[in-house]
Amino acid sequence: MSIAAFATVLVNHWQRATRAARRVLAPVLPTALLYGAVSATSLLAELGAPLGLGREWAWVEYVAILAVPVTFLGGLLRSRLAGYSVGELVVELGDKGTGGELRAAVSRALGDPSAEVAYWMPDLGIYADADGRPVELTTDDLARAVTVIERAGERIGALVHDSALREEPQLLDSVCAAAGLAMENERLHTEVLTRLAEVSASRARIVEAADAERRRVERNLHDGAQQRLVSLSLALAMARNRLAGEAECSEPGSRTVGVEELLSEAADELILALRELRELARGIHPAILTEEGLGAAVESLAERAPVPVEVLGHPDGVLPPSVEAAAYYVVSEALANVAKYAKASSVRVTIGRGGRGLRVEVADDGVGGATSHPGSGLEGLADRLATLDGRLVVESHPGTGTRVTAEIPCG
Ligand SMILES: Nc1ncnc2c1ncn2[C@@H]1O[C@H](COP(=O)(O)OP(=O)(O)O)[C@@H](O)[C@H]1O
Ligand SMILES: [Mg+2]
Repeated sequence: MSIAAFATVLVNHWQRATRAARRVLAPVLPTALLYGAVSATSLLAELGAPLGLGREWAWVEYVAILAVPVTFLGGLLRSRLAGYSVGELVVELGDKGTGGELRAAVSRALGDPSAEVAYWMPDLGIYADADGRPVELTTDDLARAVTVIERAGERIGALVHDSALREEPQLLDSVCAAAGLAMENERLHTEVLTRLAEVSASRARIVEAADAERRRVERNLHDGAQQRLVSLSLALAMARNRLAGEAECSEPGSRTVGVEELLSEAADELILALRELRELARGIHPAILTEEGLGAAVESLAERAPVPVEVLGHPDGVLPPSVEAAAYYVVSEALANVAKYAKASSVRVTIGRGGRGLRVEVADDGVGGATSHPGSGLEGLADRLATLDGRLVVESHPGTGTRVTAEIPCG
């Protein structure tokens, strides 16, 4: 009787059980069957059937009876562990959780290998998979169900899963919450990367625009003011020559002598003005860089420096103009600093290919102690290099000189 009652209770429970409850009950079924078979055998033996059961049979009965609660506990534990998988899902998705990994983790947590994750594309008004392919979610298949994933009241995606999972709303809710968090993180991550790319691109454009403007101003100075001053200087020289010719024919002590002196002073002034203008134009943009390249431009900086400069190595191959300009400004600023602050007796400029591209180094044997500050020349250089994904390193300890190194990725 008791066996029949036990079997009836078990079948009833199984029929009414949800997926989660079945997960608890499932391991009990085989042991219940075993217990039923053992009990039936014992009953038959008690009723006089010649089964020849020895004393050991009592042990088999004990084991069968014990197996039922033990497997029931096992089922409970299994269900708990399935609950943990949502926690694991959160941890796993916190680690990486993109695209296919999200789908795999979600189906593991749901215990549904066919589970799919779809992303809501608000601009297009459609769902798409991790690769951006449109996904149709309406399904006639009654075995499949769709659960929309929302965060802060906004739709961000959907789960397509076994409809039986509807009986486990808590599991579904937890998985949706974890997946929603991961999807939003993924979206924010992509958004941040896009913004970062936009910012670096616009920073590079700003530097390029400033360089173009400097080139334009230098051209204007060269073709405009400088040319006019050169013509003026020629005109003055001609006037002086003519005056000298006339003075030879006129009486000594005549007024032409005073005028000649004035003209000569004006010519000297003009030469100074021209020199200053050329320096100014070179500071705005070095024409030699555009016309003769980085090697020649660096040599000309070295020649003009007040401290002896040794230039080692030469930039080989064709370099992008932005890289050449950055390298030039590094040498120009570092040499200007040596002249202004270092009290050095010699400087060494080394240009060559380094691990990350072009490597430019300016090292002096001066007093050291260089530190960049907001708006300083060295900071400006670091900003310029950052637009090219390059970097500036300043090593300068008091008493040991200063070494400024720039690494600029190229080609
Ligand atoms: N080669 C050097 N030797 C010693 N001190 C230096 C050197 N280069 C720079 N410095 C110091 O570091 C400071 C920052 O340099 P920099 O960023 O070029 O600024 P600035 O615009 O004043 O030239 C300078 O004010 C100077 O005190
Ligand atoms: Mg400086």
